[in-house]
Amino acid sequence: EKGAYEHFMLKEIDEQPAVMHKLVQEYTNEDGSMKIDQDLINAIEDADRLYIVAAGTSYHAGLVGHELFEKFAKIPTEVHVASEFAYNQPLLSKKPFFIFLTQSGETADSHQVLTQVNEAGYPSLTITNVANSTLSREATYTLLLYAGPEIAVASTKAYTAQIAVEALLAKALGVDMGYQEAKDFDVRKELSIVANGMQELVDEKHDIEKLAQKYLAKARNAFYIGRAIDYDTAIEAALKLKEVSYIQTEGFAAGELKHGTIALIEEGTPVISIITDHTIASHTRSNEEEVVARGANVISIVSKDLAKDTDQIVLPTVHPLLTSLVAIIPAQLLAYYASEQRGYDVDKPRNLAKSVTVE
Ligand code: F6R
Repeated sequence: EKGAYEHFMLKEIDEQPAVMHKLVQEYTNEDGSMKIDQDLINAIEDADRLYIVAAGTSYHAGLVGHELFEKFAKIPTEVHVASEFAYNQPLLSKKPFFIFLTQSGETADSHQVLTQVNEAGYPSLTITNVANSTLSREATYTLLLYAGPEIAVASTKAYTAQIAVEALLAKALGVDMGYQEAKDFDVRKELSIVANGMQELVDEKHDIEKLAQKYLAKARNAFYIGRAIDYDTAIEAALKLKEVSYIQTEGFAAGELKHGTIALIEEGTPVISIITDHTIASHTRSNEEEVVARGANVISIVSKDLAKDTDQIVLPTVHPLLTSLVAIIPAQLLAYYASEQRGYDVDKPRNLAKSVTVE
């Protein structure tokens, strides 16, 4: 039910703080210990490498998961697009463990890989929003997203829920293996800080609506740029904008722009930069200047501790490995409002289906 909302997409964007709280409840105890099946933890610890396989937005959540599993659990991790992996399988490690990220649990491309994985006898985990979905039934283990039904075709709350579940799992693994980084990562506290930050951002949605009107309502193309984890967020932000507003949008590694793509920048081209990582902030700032010099309209999405007075969107400060969870909120809102302002069917963009059950 949409209730007071005109579209499911906006409702689902607004639900994200509650989903964070729900995940903390489902996966942690008040004393800080984790509620994750020990058999699953043991099976992953037995592996020498994680292979995350997914499509679309779920793949983008996997890119962030890569950082979380390597930093907190110190397990080498690869992330693969399901439709590529299925036909061009990489050389696998001796003891692989597969993680399927899928909101619906029904995506044919991901299912095809799981079928191959099962034939080869490798262990697997499906992280999904739908209990008893095909990928959940066929994988060795399941973790649920508890995001509630996602109706809008463009995925929003499933993306942030997937990243949160990856953070919870990485924490549980790292603690079980005795790593200090994981012990120091107070995931309950950090996800609560994220939830509050998300709430602040959704409460300011009308500022974002105005930015969409000013920079995107008439745009022909656009870019999201970022480095490191901000690059992971930029790719998802770009997918959101293109799929609902039909503005051709690319998510780009900020430093790579000058190696060719900068040729596309014209007077008025919107370039949205994401800056949450202090180690790379000055570099992305230089890339902003490069595109401004070529006429771009830069919109900066910047963490509070790195922000300047002129930055249009300021993000509440959260744990450095969880910044995607807050940085994506204004990007989802920009996409939503741009689509609405251009008069499109926000919840059902052309040519798309909620669950892609063909290869
Ligand atoms: C984009 C979107 C799609 C899905 C993709 C995978 O907003 O929703 O890119 O993320 O089709 O779907 P699931 O996660 O159901 O496997």
